[in-house]
Amino acid sequence: MLEKCVASPPNILATLQAVQAAFGYVPLDTVPAIAAKLGVTDSDVRGVLSFYHDLRTEKPGKHVIRFCLGDSCRATHCENSLAAIEKKLGCELGETSPDGKFTLEKVYCLGNCALSPNMMIGEEIYPRLTPKSATAALEKHK
Ligand code: FES
Repeated sequence: MLEKCVASPPNILATLQAVQAAFGYVPLDTVPAIAAKLGVTDSDVRGVLSFYHDLRTEKPGKHVIRFCLGDSCRATHCENSLAAIEKKLGCELGETSPDGKFTLEKVYCLGNCALSPNMMIGEEIYPRLTPKSATAALEKHK
């Protein structure tokens, strides 16, 4: 499987993105194999892995929530919806809910500022969030 993920021409970021697309995350124990395939050091791979926020090294929950903390969403009080989600899920940003169903991640813009505040669950965007609509969105994905 890892063979299919190695970018051509060799490219660390593209390879890590392909691994994450295949597995949902980049297991740390795959770093030596990825480095060997690309002809770079383990440190090179770990450096890219730690630099990009979109790459994760732990298995995510069934659904990944990308909650926007960008300027536009902050200006429209996204913190109220975030607090409601954290309370409902029993976890905070960067964590997975105890039932393993949701991983809550932060992003700094989803490209939908005109309809702030925003979050995504999987590939679906939820605009103009309120605490009520945010928790209702969670129910839809249970
Ligand atoms: S700042 Fe949140 S969508 Fe742009």
